[in-house]
Amino acid sequence: MARAESTRRVFLIGFMGAGKTTVGRALARRLGWSFRDLDEVVEEREGKSVAAIFTEDGEAGFRRVESAALQELLHENAAAGNLVVALGGGAFVQASNRSALQRVGILTVLLEAPLEVLRRRCATDGKTRPLSVDETRFAQLFTERRAAYELAHVRVDTTDKPVERVAAEIEHMLAAAAKLEVKE
Ligand code: S3P
Repeated sequence: MARAESTRRVFLIGFMGAGKTTVGRALARRLGWSFRDLDEVVEEREGKSVAAIFTEDGEAGFRRVESAALQELLHENAAAGNLVVALGGGAFVQASNRSALQRVGILTVLLEAPLEVLRRRCATDGKTRPLSVDETRFAQLFTERRAAYELAHVRVDTTDKPVERVAAEIEHMLAAAAKLEVKE
């Protein structure tokens, strides 16, 4: 019972181009919740773009600040109301980040699409992604990350679906979950 009335947080995960940021914003708007994008938190914290962090500090440097930003987000928002978060594509792949989410009982939703769809979205959405430049590496990461992504609580296919439809599906799922919690 208490659960449905307490703070609720949903984290969207998935590969580059899955639509985590656009769906996250739409979902937050529908629910009247706040929205945060982990890459934006990293950029605000470091005072430079994700691409600049990759160039200056390498991927390892980016992963360090990404984990630190995630920790900050998890603690700073613990009492700040209901929240939708879009993680960067590699954040959930790091086991320590997954454990941090698990420890605070975050619901994770995986947004899925086939490789070609993700590739097309990354080429057209205007975001600079250091790890989508090399097509072979992009495909390799897609395969390598699958097992980690499958650890999400829920999966939603985004192929050929408008952003609002994906957001509506997640909203309905959350409403159903809240009803179950109230009955418990
Ligand atoms: C990354 C995905 C990016 C961003 C960074 C690394 C990844 O976010 O965090 O470029 O490792 O998949 P999006 O998933 O929002 O593109």
